[in-house]
Amino acid sequence: MLKDKKVSYSGIQPSGNLTIGNYLGALRNFSQYSDEYQTFYCVVDMHAITVRQVPAELRRRTYETLALYIAAGLDPEKNTLYVQSHVPAHAELAWILNCYTMFGELSRMTQFKDKSAKHSDNINAGLFTYPTLMAADILLYQTDVVPVGVDQKQHVELARDIAGRFNQAYSETFTIPEPIISKSGMKIMSLADPTKKMSKSDENANAVVYILDDKDTIIRKFKRAVTDSDTCVRYGEGKDGINNLMSIYSCVSGKSYDEIEREFEGRGYGDFKLAVGEAVADTLAPVQAEHARLLSDKAYLESVMKNGADTAAYFAQKTLSKVKKKVGFLI
Ligand code: TRP
Repeated sequence: MLKDKKVSYSGIQPSGNLTIGNYLGALRNFSQYSDEYQTFYCVVDMHAITVRQVPAELRRRTYETLALYIAAGLDPEKNTLYVQSHVPAHAELAWILNCYTMFGELSRMTQFKDKSAKHSDNINAGLFTYPTLMAADILLYQTDVVPVGVDQKQHVELARDIAGRFNQAYSETFTIPEPIISKSGMKIMSLADPTKKMSKSDENANAVVYILDDKDTIIRKFKRAVTDSDTCVRYGEGKDGINNLMSIYSCVSGKSYDEIEREFEGRGYGDFKLAVGEAVADTLAPVQAEHARLLSDKAYLESVMKNGADTAAYFAQKTLSKVKKKVGFLI
Protein backbone atom coordinates (compact mmCIF):
# COMPACT_ATOMS: atom_id res chain seq x y z
CA MET A 1 0.00 0.00 0.00
CA LEU A 2 1.35 3.44 -0.89
CA LYS A 3 1.56 5.73 2.07
CA ASP A 4 2.51 9.41 2.45
CA LYS A 5 3.97 8.81 5.85
CA LYS A 6 5.01 5.80 7.84
CA VAL A 7 2.45 4.68 10.39
CA SER A 8 2.92 4.49 14.15
CA TYR A 9 0.37 2.65 16.30
CA SER A 10 0.03 2.13 20.02
CA GLY A 11 -2.65 1.33 22.57
CA ILE A 12 -3.29 1.58 26.29
CA GLN A 13 -5.77 -0.48 28.29
CA PRO A 14 -8.31 1.51 30.32
CA SER A 15 -8.05 -1.11 33.03
CA GLY A 16 -6.18 0.44 35.90
CA ASN A 17 -4.57 3.61 37.01
CA LEU A 18 -1.50 4.34 34.95
CA THR A 19 1.83 4.65 36.72
CA ILE A 20 4.77 7.00 36.30
CA GLY A 21 6.39 4.05 34.51
CA ASN A 22 3.66 4.19 31.85
CA TYR A 23 4.09 7.95 31.66
CA LEU A 24 7.87 8.14 31.46
CA GLY A 25 8.30 4.99 29.39
CA ALA A 26 5.45 5.46 26.93
CA LEU A 27 2.92 8.29 27.05
CA ARG A 28 5.39 11.12 27.44
CA ASN A 29 7.27 10.05 24.33
CA PHE A 30 4.25 9.57 22.08
CA SER A 31 3.93 13.16 20.88
CA GLN A 32 7.38 13.05 19.29
CA TYR A 33 6.06 10.77 16.56
CA SER A 34 3.30 13.06 15.28
CA ASP A 35 5.40 14.92 12.73
CA GLU A 36 7.25 12.03 11.19
CA TYR A 37 4.48 9.42 11.30
CA GLN A 38 0.79 9.08 10.77
CA THR A 39 -0.11 8.15 14.34
CA PHE A 40 -2.93 6.12 15.86
CA TYR A 41 -3.44 5.87 19.63
CA CYS A 42 -6.15 3.56 20.79
CA VAL A 43 -7.91 3.04 24.11
CA VAL A 44 -8.14 -0.75 24.02
CA ASP A 45 -11.34 -1.44 25.93
CA MET A 46 -11.81 -4.83 24.22
CA HIS A 47 -8.50 -5.99 25.65
CA ALA A 48 -9.51 -4.69 29.08
CA ILE A 49 -12.45 -7.11 29.41
CA THR A 50 -10.13 -10.12 29.23
CA VAL A 51 -10.07 -9.61 32.99
CA ARG A 52 -13.28 -8.73 34.88
CA GLN A 53 -14.11 -5.03 34.91
CA VAL A 54 -16.75 -3.08 36.77
CA PRO A 55 -18.73 -1.54 33.88
CA ALA A 56 -19.04 1.95 35.38
CA GLU A 57 -15.31 2.00 36.11
CA LEU A 58 -14.45 0.82 32.62
CA ARG A 59 -16.50 3.68 31.19
CA ARG A 60 -14.82 6.20 33.49
CA ARG A 61 -11.35 4.91 32.69
CA THR A 62 -12.02 4.97 28.97
CA TYR A 63 -12.67 8.72 29.21
CA GLU A 64 -9.68 9.12 31.53
CA THR A 65 -7.30 7.29 29.22
CA LEU A 66 -8.41 9.35 26.24
CA ALA A 67 -7.98 12.53 28.32
CA LEU A 68 -4.50 11.38 29.37
CA TYR A 69 -3.44 10.94 25.77
CA ILE A 70 -4.43 14.54 25.09
CA ALA A 71 -2.99 15.83 28.38
CA ALA A 72 0.31 14.13 27.55
CA GLY A 73 0.57 16.33 24.48
CA LEU A 74 -1.20 14.39 21.73
CA ASP A 75 -3.14 16.90 19.66
CA PRO A 76 -6.31 15.20 18.32
CA GLU A 77 -5.87 17.20 15.10
CA LYS A 78 -2.51 15.59 14.47
CA ASN A 79 -3.08 12.13 15.94
CA THR A 80 -5.95 9.70 15.52
CA LEU A 81 -7.22 9.08 19.06
CA TYR A 82 -10.04 6.57 19.40
CA VAL A 83 -11.67 3.74 21.31
CA GLN A 84 -11.11 0.20 20.04
CA SER A 85 -14.70 -1.04 20.40
CA HIS A 86 -15.91 1.87 18.22
CA VAL A 87 -14.21 0.34 15.19
CA PRO A 88 -15.71 -3.12 14.55
CA ALA A 89 -12.97 -3.97 12.05
CA HIS A 90 -10.74 -4.85 15.04
CA ALA A 91 -13.01 -7.69 16.11
CA GLU A 92 -13.49 -8.85 12.52
CA LEU A 93 -9.80 -9.01 11.68
CA ALA A 94 -9.02 -10.56 15.07
CA TRP A 95 -11.32 -13.47 14.23
CA ILE A 96 -9.66 -14.04 10.88
CA LEU A 97 -6.18 -13.83 12.39
CA ASN A 98 -7.18 -16.34 15.07
CA CYS A 99 -7.38 -18.83 12.25
CA TYR A 100 -3.78 -18.04 11.27
CA THR A 101 -2.34 -18.17 14.78
CA MET A 102 -1.23 -21.39 16.37
CA PHE A 103 -2.32 -22.68 19.75
CA GLY A 104 1.33 -23.30 20.60
CA GLU A 105 2.32 -19.72 19.79
CA LEU A 106 -0.34 -18.30 22.07
CA SER A 107 0.57 -20.77 24.83
CA ARG A 108 4.10 -19.40 24.89
CA MET A 109 3.12 -15.79 25.57
CA THR A 110 4.53 -14.76 28.94
CA GLN A 111 1.73 -12.27 29.60
CA PHE A 112 -0.83 -15.07 29.17
CA LYS A 113 1.10 -17.28 31.58
CA ASP A 114 1.40 -14.48 34.15
CA LYS A 115 -2.22 -13.40 33.87
CA SER A 116 -3.61 -16.91 34.01
CA ALA A 117 -1.58 -17.55 37.16
CA LYS A 118 -2.98 -14.35 38.64
CA HIS A 119 -6.59 -14.87 37.56
CA SER A 120 -6.76 -18.63 37.85
CA ASP A 121 -10.53 -18.47 38.35
CA ASN A 122 -11.04 -16.77 34.97
CA ILE A 123 -8.70 -18.12 32.30
CA ASN A 124 -11.04 -17.23 29.46
CA ALA A 125 -10.51 -17.65 25.72
CA GLY A 126 -10.19 -13.88 25.31
CA LEU A 127 -7.19 -13.84 27.61
CA PHE A 128 -5.65 -16.55 25.48
CA THR A 129 -6.29 -14.82 22.14
CA TYR A 130 -5.46 -11.35 23.47
CA PRO A 131 -2.34 -11.26 21.25
CA THR A 132 -4.31 -11.88 18.04
CA LEU A 133 -6.59 -8.94 18.83
CA MET A 134 -3.46 -6.87 19.40
CA ALA A 135 -2.06 -8.11 16.09
CA ALA A 136 -5.32 -7.03 14.42
CA ASP A 137 -5.03 -3.56 16.01
CA ILE A 138 -1.56 -3.15 14.60
CA LEU A 139 -1.99 -4.80 11.19
CA LEU A 140 -5.25 -3.05 10.26
CA TYR A 141 -3.39 0.24 9.87
CA GLN A 142 -0.41 -1.05 7.85
CA THR A 143 1.69 -0.06 10.85
CA ASP A 144 5.44 0.41 10.49
CA VAL A 145 6.35 1.06 14.12
CA VAL A 146 4.79 0.20 17.48
CA PRO A 147 6.11 2.20 20.45
CA VAL A 148 5.58 -0.02 23.51
CA GLY A 149 7.12 -1.04 26.81
CA VAL A 150 9.51 -3.95 26.76
CA ASP A 151 6.82 -6.27 28.20
CA GLN A 152 4.86 -5.97 24.93
CA LYS A 153 7.75 -6.87 22.65
CA GLN A 154 6.77 -10.53 22.47
CA HIS A 155 3.25 -9.58 21.34
CA VAL A 156 4.57 -7.34 18.56
CA GLU A 157 6.86 -10.14 17.45
CA LEU A 158 3.88 -12.46 17.23
CA ALA A 159 2.07 -9.84 15.13
CA ARG A 160 5.06 -9.85 12.78
CA ASP A 161 4.95 -13.64 12.52
CA ILE A 162 1.22 -13.67 11.80
CA ALA A 163 1.59 -10.92 9.19
CA GLY A 164 4.45 -12.75 7.51
CA ARG A 165 2.51 -16.00 7.46
CA PHE A 166 -0.53 -14.34 5.91
CA ASN A 167 1.57 -12.50 3.30
CA GLN A 168 3.30 -15.74 2.45
CA ALA A 169 0.03 -17.55 1.95
CA TYR A 170 -1.82 -14.85 -0.04
CA SER A 171 0.73 -12.28 -1.36
CA GLU A 172 1.66 -8.95 0.26
CA THR A 173 -1.20 -7.81 2.44
CA PHE A 174 0.21 -6.45 5.69
CA THR A 175 3.16 -4.20 6.48
CA ILE A 176 5.48 -6.00 8.89
CA PRO A 177 5.58 -3.86 12.07
CA GLU A 178 8.65 -3.07 14.11
CA PRO A 179 8.51 -2.56 17.90
CA ILE A 180 10.13 0.61 19.28
CA ILE A 181 11.13 0.04 22.88
CA SER A 182 11.77 3.27 24.72
CA LYS A 183 15.00 3.31 26.69
CA SER A 184 14.12 5.98 29.22
CA GLY A 185 11.66 5.01 31.88
CA MET A 186 11.26 1.45 30.75
CA LYS A 187 12.86 0.13 33.88
CA ILE A 188 11.00 1.98 36.57
CA MET A 189 10.95 -0.38 39.52
CA SER A 190 8.61 -0.79 42.48
CA LEU A 191 9.36 1.57 45.38
CA ALA A 192 8.72 -1.25 47.86
CA ASP A 193 10.75 -3.93 46.07
CA PRO A 194 13.18 -2.32 43.62
CA THR A 195 14.07 -5.67 42.05
CA LYS A 196 10.52 -5.84 40.59
CA LYS A 197 9.00 -3.70 37.86
CA MET A 198 6.56 -1.03 39.05
CA SER A 199 3.19 -2.48 38.12
CA LYS A 200 -0.20 -0.77 38.07
CA SER A 201 -1.76 -3.88 39.58
CA ASP A 202 0.60 -4.09 42.57
CA GLU A 203 -1.38 -4.70 45.76
CA ASN A 204 0.93 -2.53 47.83
CA ALA A 205 -0.17 1.05 47.10
CA ASN A 206 3.14 2.43 48.40
CA ALA A 207 5.05 0.52 45.74
CA VAL A 208 3.49 2.42 42.88
CA VAL A 209 3.25 6.09 41.95
CA TYR A 210 0.28 6.82 39.74
CA ILE A 211 0.16 9.60 37.16
CA LEU A 212 -2.89 11.04 38.90
CA ASP A 213 -1.52 10.90 42.49
CA ASP A 214 -1.54 14.31 44.18
CA LYS A 215 1.66 16.00 45.30
CA ASP A 216 1.44 14.98 48.98
CA THR A 217 0.82 11.36 48.07
CA ILE A 218 3.73 11.34 45.64
CA ILE A 219 6.11 12.80 48.21
CA ARG A 220 4.91 10.42 50.92
CA LYS A 221 5.47 7.41 48.65
CA PHE A 222 8.97 8.50 47.73
CA LYS A 223 9.80 9.14 51.40
CA ARG A 224 8.90 5.51 52.12
CA ALA A 225 10.83 4.10 49.18
CA VAL A 226 13.03 1.15 50.11
CA THR A 227 16.75 1.95 49.83
CA ASP A 228 19.83 0.42 51.50
CA SER A 229 22.00 0.84 54.58
CA ASP A 230 24.63 2.88 52.76
CA THR A 231 24.18 6.66 53.01
CA CYS A 232 25.71 7.86 49.79
CA VAL A 233 23.64 8.78 46.73
CA ARG A 234 25.50 7.00 43.97
CA TYR A 235 24.66 4.47 41.28
CA GLY A 236 26.02 1.03 42.05
CA GLU A 237 25.60 -2.67 42.47
CA GLY A 238 23.43 -3.79 45.37
CA LYS A 239 21.79 -0.35 45.46
CA ASP A 240 18.62 -1.20 43.50
CA GLY A 241 16.47 1.26 45.45
CA ILE A 242 18.83 4.21 44.97
CA ASN A 243 19.50 3.22 41.35
CA ASN A 244 15.77 3.28 40.71
CA LEU A 245 15.33 6.69 42.37
CA MET A 246 18.28 8.04 40.40
CA SER A 247 16.83 6.75 37.17
CA ILE A 248 13.43 8.33 37.94
CA TYR A 249 15.08 11.61 38.95
CA SER A 250 17.19 11.58 35.81
CA CYS A 251 14.08 10.97 33.65
CA VAL A 252 12.17 13.90 35.12
CA SER A 253 15.04 16.38 35.55
CA GLY A 254 17.15 15.50 32.51
CA LYS A 255 20.22 15.36 34.78
CA SER A 256 22.88 12.69 34.29
CA TYR A 257 23.85 10.26 37.06
CA ASP A 258 27.11 12.18 37.57
CA GLU A 259 25.26 15.42 38.01
CA ILE A 260 22.87 13.80 40.48
CA GLU A 261 25.74 12.32 42.51
CA ARG A 262 27.35 15.75 42.69
CA GLU A 263 24.10 17.46 43.63
CA PHE A 264 23.59 15.15 46.61
CA GLU A 265 27.16 14.77 47.75
CA GLY A 266 27.30 14.86 51.54
CA ARG A 267 23.51 14.89 51.82
CA GLY A 268 21.40 12.03 53.17
CA TYR A 269 18.81 9.80 51.52
CA GLY A 270 16.02 11.84 53.14
CA ASP A 271 16.96 14.94 51.14
CA PHE A 272 17.32 12.94 47.97
CA LYS A 273 13.95 11.19 48.29
CA LEU A 274 12.23 14.50 48.90
CA ALA A 275 13.89 16.01 45.83
CA VAL A 276 12.81 13.07 43.67
CA GLY A 277 9.23 13.29 44.98
CA GLU A 278 9.06 17.01 44.29
CA ALA A 279 10.54 16.71 40.82
CA VAL A 280 8.08 13.95 39.89
CA ALA A 281 5.13 15.95 41.29
CA ASP A 282 6.25 19.04 39.36
CA THR A 283 6.55 17.06 36.12
CA LEU A 284 3.08 15.61 36.53
CA ALA A 285 1.32 18.78 37.71
CA PRO A 286 0.59 20.26 34.25
CA VAL A 287 -0.53 16.87 32.90
CA GLN A 288 -2.90 16.43 35.85
CA ALA A 289 -4.33 19.91 35.46
CA GLU A 290 -5.01 19.41 31.76
CA HIS A 291 -6.46 15.96 32.43
CA ALA A 292 -8.88 17.41 34.99
CA ARG A 293 -9.89 20.19 32.63
CA LEU A 294 -10.58 17.72 29.81
CA LEU A 295 -12.62 15.38 31.99
CA SER A 296 -14.95 18.20 32.86
CA ASP A 297 -15.65 18.61 29.14
CA LYS A 298 -17.24 15.30 28.15
CA ALA A 299 -18.74 16.78 25.00
CA TYR A 300 -15.27 17.59 23.73
CA LEU A 301 -13.92 14.12 24.59
CA GLU A 302 -16.89 12.57 22.82
CA SER A 303 -16.24 14.60 19.70
CA VAL A 304 -12.58 13.53 19.76
CA MET A 305 -13.45 9.83 20.04
CA LYS A 306 -16.11 10.10 17.36
CA ASN A 307 -13.79 11.80 14.85
CA GLY A 308 -10.99 9.41 15.77
CA ALA A 309 -13.20 6.38 15.20
CA ASP A 310 -14.31 7.71 11.79
CA THR A 311 -10.73 8.21 10.66
CA ALA A 312 -9.59 4.87 12.06
CA ALA A 313 -12.52 3.02 10.49
CA TYR A 314 -11.68 4.48 7.08
CA PHE A 315 -8.13 3.11 7.13
CA ALA A 316 -9.07 -0.14 8.87
CA GLN A 317 -11.72 -0.91 6.29
CA LYS A 318 -9.24 -0.72 3.43
CA THR A 319 -7.10 -3.45 4.98
CA LEU A 320 -10.05 -5.53 6.14
CA SER A 321 -11.63 -5.60 2.66
CA LYS A 322 -8.38 -6.81 1.15
CA VAL A 323 -8.06 -9.52 3.75
CA LYS A 324 -11.63 -10.71 3.26
CA LYS A 325 -11.11 -10.94 -0.48
CA LYS A 326 -7.87 -12.85 -0.10
CA VAL A 327 -9.29 -15.48 2.23
CA GLY A 328 -12.22 -16.03 -0.12
CA PHE A 329 -15.13 -14.23 1.54
CA LEU A 330 -17.72 -12.78 -0.83
CA ILE A 331 -17.72 -9.03 -0.35
N1 TRP B 1 -1.27 -5.02 25.09
C1 TRP B 1 -0.88 -3.65 25.27
C2 TRP B 1 -0.56 -3.40 26.72
O1 TRP B 1 -1.15 -3.97 27.60
C3 TRP B 1 -1.95 -2.69 24.82
C4 TRP B 1 -2.21 -2.79 23.35
C5 TRP B 1 -3.31 -3.32 22.76
C6 TRP B 1 -1.37 -2.34 22.32
N2 TRP B 1 -3.22 -3.21 21.42
C7 TRP B 1 -2.05 -2.63 21.09
C8 TRP B 1 -0.11 -1.72 22.30
C9 TRP B 1 -1.48 -2.32 19.87
C10 TRP B 1 0.44 -1.40 21.06
C11 TRP B 1 -0.23 -1.72 19.85
O2 TRP B 1 0.28 -2.57 26.99
